Amino acid sequence: MRSLKNVLVTGGSGFIGCNFIRVLLNKTPDFNGRIINLDALTYAGNALSLAEIDTKHGGGRYFFEHGDICDRPFVESIFDKYEIDTVIHFAAESHVDRSILGPEAFIKTNVMGTYTLLDAARNIWKRAGGSMREDVLFHHISTDEVYGSLGDTGYFTETTAYDPRSPYSASKASSDHLVMAYYHTYGLPVTLSNCSNNYGSYQFPEKLIPLMILNMLEGKNLPVYGGGKNIRDWVYVEDHNSAVWAVIAKGRIGEKYNIGGGNEWENIKLLSVLIDIVADQAGLDPDKIWETITYVKDRPGHDRRYAIDFSKIKDELGWEPGSTFEDGLKKTVAWYLKNREWIDGIRSGEYKNWVEKNYGKRG
Ligand code: NAD
Ligand code: DAU
Repeated sequence: MRSLKNVLVTGGSGFIGCNFIRVLLNKTPDFNGRIINLDALTYAGNALSLAEIDTKHGGGRYFFEHGDICDRPFVESIFDKYEIDTVIHFAAESHVDRSILGPEAFIKTNVMGTYTLLDAARNIWKRAGGSMREDVLFHHISTDEVYGSLGDTGYFTETTAYDPRSPYSASKASSDHLVMAYYHTYGLPVTLSNCSNNYGSYQFPEKLIPLMILNMLEGKNLPVYGGGKNIRDWVYVEDHNSAVWAVIAKGRIGEKYNIGGGNEWENIKLLSVLIDIVADQAGLDPDKIWETITYVKDRPGHDRRYAIDFSKIKDELGWEPGSTFEDGLKKTVAWYLKNREWIDGIRSGEYKNWVEKNYGKRG
């Protein structure tokens, strides 16, 4: 088991990062180090997602730093200030549709931002003689979308050739290659994980599941791309994060690990399950919700099917997804029903003011 002292989490105010920080701080007895969350608070970053930890500073173990991973002097100052020994790199532009409308932000953050972090780590983690420290780790969070699209059969393994189809997945593929290049060329101790579709609490309501939940609750149409036949492999966010923890704690340096839910669903079938759960929890008529399904124009280059073979992480590190889809979805719907304040904060843009209110103006 690796010992981590000062952990830089990038993108910790986003969906997966905030869930990761909460669990690492409160429910991981093997970890007693410090967490430094570096986040630019883009539209997808929400300081409210960690407000209860932030206002108490996580018992002196949690620190928030507002900034951009592309800003080299700022990134280096954070490494120095906190004597960072571990980077867990979640920060990214993450939504495929947005990458189709405007790829530039994806190239900047996902490619240049990852390069900036890698190069800062390489510089700062070098010993005086030029060799790389061994007590450090750079873990990169990536996606199964780098592998492209599957037909009706087969699974993505760690050796599947990269074949990204959207500006988002191309930018993530590029970041993965940079991570491996820094390992092979400079000896930077890295690990990498490629995960399938996450769902759970605190997910920005542009992604399929939270978008559909909120539209159902608000009586809006449910926009289904194409014929609704595309397939995704869904994993509960806490299962993804327990896999990330397993890789960080015990994974082999220079290795990549696929993470998936073993849980493939056609979008339209997923929607029918979700409608029943929302109707049940919110006291709505499922037939009325079903009538709001609207087939809309397909996403350009829409990948047909993703499915992950996670036998490597299972065999080597003993990780398996712990949640059933039904339980995970029920918990997720209950969370969105209970956390109206978080949703209203997003709708009103109020969450953007939280940092300024609590820390004063920055930068
Ligand atoms: P998200 O969009 O919810 O959050 C991204 C976070 O990164 C936000 O807090 C945002 O403010 C921050 N950020 C963006 N640009 C930044 C910059 N230049 N500098 C500093 N911070 C910046 O994303 P997510 O869904 O939580 O995804 C996290 C990571 O996991 C991403 O790398 C994504 O590619 C990967 N991933 C996501 C999924 C999924 O289903 N959501 C699946 C597999 C992998
Ligand atoms: O596979 C991992 C990836 O999963 C992550 O790397 C991405 O960051 C994450 O956004 C997600 O990408 P997808 O494109 O698969 O997720 P999204 O929620 O956007 O869409 C899921 C499926 O639902 C996809 O087939 C498109 C469809 N869809 C989506 C939306 C938003 C609809 O039919 N209607 C919609 O309104």
